[in-house]
Amino acid sequence: MPTVDDVKIIELPKVTDPRGNLSFVEQLNHIPFEIKRTYWIYDVPGGEARGGHAFIHNEEFIIALSGSFDIVVDDGNQKKVFTLNRSYYGLYVPCGLWREMENFSTNSLALEFGSTHYTTDDYIRDYDLFIKLKHDEKK
Ligand code: TYD
Repeated sequence: MPTVDDVKIIELPKVTDPRGNLSFVEQLNHIPFEIKRTYWIYDVPGGEARGGHAFIHNEEFIIALSGSFDIVVDDGNQKKVFTLNRSYYGLYVPCGLWREMENFSTNSLALEFGSTHYTTDDYIRDYDLFIKLKHDEKK
């Protein structure tokens, strides 16, 4: 099963131009899965945290299109914090990891691509259950 060492910052193409810069992402290229879903998180009030959960199957690719925020990933054994603060970096988060998003700057915009359609069945929202499942995996 994936660990926090499988979470990767991926640098995206940046086409610099005096008229304004341009970046892009392609599925199965920069994003290592087929995109089934795109959503975005915005208008986050100061001090709020989002995304305290794990996905069973859904893989994610997260970009800070504007502003900055931290993504804390946890495999039940180890935690890592990734700060996204440039629109030409993405974070690949495999399935099976607990992840939270915090320290959103004012007017930050988080763009997220997912490998599955939305379903509540794919969520683990109870941290104790997540840890239990991780320990059971090792048996
Ligand atoms: P959720 O993933 O729980 O966000 P967070 O973990 O950051 O709190 O989503 C919040 C709500 O939005 C949840 O009730 C379901 C809904 N939602 C969808 O309908 N479709 C989606 O693709 C996502 C990500 C969420």
